[in-house]
Amino acid sequence: MSLIVFGSINMDLVAQTSHLPKPGETVSGNQFFTVPGGKGANQAVAAAKLGVNTYLIGRVGGDSLGQELLSNLPALNVNIDGVIVDKNINSGVAIISVDQVGENSIIVVPGANGNIDNSDVQRLETILPNARALLLQLEIPLSPVKTAAEMAKNAGITVILDPAPAPDSLPDPLYPLIDIITPNETEAAKLVGFEIKNRETAEKAAQVFLNWGVKNVVIKLGAKGAFYATKNQSWLIPPYPVNAIDTVAAGDGFNGAMAAALDRGLSLHDGLKWGAVAGALTTTKRGAQTALPNLETLEFYLSQYSYSY
Ligand code: RIB
Repeated sequence: MSLIVFGSINMDLVAQTSHLPKPGETVSGNQFFTVPGGKGANQAVAAAKLGVNTYLIGRVGGDSLGQELLSNLPALNVNIDGVIVDKNINSGVAIISVDQVGENSIIVVPGANGNIDNSDVQRLETILPNARALLLQLEIPLSPVKTAAEMAKNAGITVILDPAPAPDSLPDPLYPLIDIITPNETEAAKLVGFEIKNRETAEKAAQVFLNWGVKNVVIKLGAKGAFYATKNQSWLIPPYPVNAIDTVAAGDGFNGAMAAALDRGLSLHDGLKWGAVAGALTTTKRGAQTALPNLETLEFYLSQYSYSY
């Protein structure tokens, strides 16, 4: 089968620095590079690198960055028949700072991603019948995200929503369309209205999402692993121990790998393991798509993952 990602495509402008600047502060950087990113494109590349047939639906701008972004994706085995060039606007860019312990701050200027509307959803129609799952994020407007989720739901396809970046709230009717929601701690806190500090608060937040109609909740806890819950069960997925140097796209690596596992016929229980290990490995290299593991690397580290949950 295949995976469909409907989402953003950005060029990342990355500066490495000793510490992230405070408001009004100027800090010196020690390195600068540009790499393809965007949460949608990253999740598509994460799945494609794991050998899954992956389609990306989205927009790039009419600038030279758009051309660069378009040529990069097929080289990584992502099908871009559903990506259009929006000539009247620039491509999406993300201005990213990464400090010496790998933490980051990101400003996204959506460009062409912000022009995505319900007309783009039509490009999903012909590929949905052969898809295992639809992956969504929130770097494109909410209305087409909701329309795509409805269309996938009607076609019986698993809907995975990474609510990143998180708004203050999501429309109530969106939640029952979601099979798997995957916020990180900050995003979950923003949506449910209280801080996620430990397993107890993660459990409480998961219950809120479940009561709103989501079927499966995965709260990504960064270096603390991930918390998973349905109405009947919950697990704490332990972190995979690595030396993190750059956390950009770790969440995208998690989502792409989890969906890839489902597409390969594995259970969600195993998919969470794929997600946790791929997310951790992504933090051991610099950049977004450049840091995502391929199948050989992931399988090697999975074979080392001996503890259970
Ligand atoms: O999730 C990481 C991504 O967020 C970066 O690649 C950047 O483009 C922003 O969208």
